[in-house]
Amino acid sequence: MSHNTFGHLFRVTTWGESHGPALGCVVDGCPPGLTFTSADIQSFLDRRKPGQSRFVTQRREADEVRILSGVMPSPDGQGHTTTGTPVSLLIENTDQRSKDYGEIARQYRPGHADYTYDVKYGIRDYRGGGRSSARETAARVAAGALARLVVPGVTIRGALVQIGKHRIDRSRFDWAEVERNPFFCPDPGTVPVWEDYLDGIRKAGSSVGAVVEVVADGVPAGLGAPLYGKLDQDIASLLMSINAVKGVEIGNGFEAAEITGEENADEMRMGNDGKPLFLSNHAGGILGGISTGAPIVARFAVKPTSSILTPRQSIDADGQQVEVRTKGRHDPCVGIRAVPVGEAMLACAIADHYLRDRGQTGRLK
Ligand SMILES: Cc1cc2nc3c(=O)[nH]c(=O)nc-3n(C[C@H](O)[C@H](O)[C@H](O)COP(=O)(O)O)c2cc1C
Repeated sequence: MSHNTFGHLFRVTTWGESHGPALGCVVDGCPPGLTFTSADIQSFLDRRKPGQSRFVTQRREADEVRILSGVMPSPDGQGHTTTGTPVSLLIENTDQRSKDYGEIARQYRPGHADYTYDVKYGIRDYRGGGRSSARETAARVAAGALARLVVPGVTIRGALVQIGKHRIDRSRFDWAEVERNPFFCPDPGTVPVWEDYLDGIRKAGSSVGAVVEVVADGVPAGLGAPLYGKLDQDIASLLMSINAVKGVEIGNGFEAAEITGEENADEMRMGNDGKPLFLSNHAGGILGGISTGAPIVARFAVKPTSSILTPRQSIDADGQQVEVRTKGRHDPCVGIRAVPVGEAMLACAIADHYLRDRGQTGRLK
């Protein structure tokens, strides 16, 4: 299975399966001289790790990261400093339960990657889905933690803005709220609604989709490489590479199709700080594939988890008709744990483009 690498100068390769001994990533091209502690990386992995509430999979993984290469002790002795050589990060799998997957070893879960992996490779790691499992996204989050260090002054945050048909009330959007509830929900008023709704979904053995919003503040103007390395193009590609993502929009996205040019125009004025100021941000911080300096805003739609208890019609590897009922521990709404993953992919896209911009234009912004 090829294509496990993304990025040009900040180049990430992930490896490992859901039920193998470990998984991880190699970040090649990480600039030298970045200083961080293991806890800096761990804090992002902790936000993604399973088993943290009744609304996510009950698989128990500590997701403790080990740094194997590419660093030396930092001058203060408290952490690590990158040397510019490949940084290898390892996360052990400790709570595999392969027997849960015995029944689906030869059956194709509708909506999952079982059929397509089989038809393409002729062999499939059915234990937890192997590489199609979102366990792999732990490695992306670890790489994203390093990517966040690359561009000075950038803040990357994510939030869940919709579960099923239940959207947040944007007038109550509060980033501080995101870390106070198990949904990464920025609207305290929506939390009890989601709690009730997801409890029902979970008890019924069902699942539901969601929408995640990710935002990067402080990205300098000028990142992006038109025509075929546009910043929005690369962000969309990386977000779309996350398991279960079925749609991506930048800025106002599909809403742009419904409004007029006057409404959509992000008018400009000179700000008091002598820098251009956009009076709105329908463009999501990107024009012509290049960052404007305004916040970069992207949203992605995550489909409902395909592994559900409700029996669904399918076929097995012999072409026999079967009814599939997936046991095991699954996320009733994968959108929740996709929030830190989306942040990581946005961070990697921006880090890569920052280095590419410096490579081409040769100047600091
Ligand atoms: C954070 C996260 C957790 C996920 N957890 C599950 C899960 O518990 N069970 C499941 O069937 N799919 C889960 N998925 C989705 C599958 O990995 C995904 O649907 C599968 O690889 C097929 O790929 P596709 O949906 O992109 O076509 C999860 C996805 C993400 C991002």
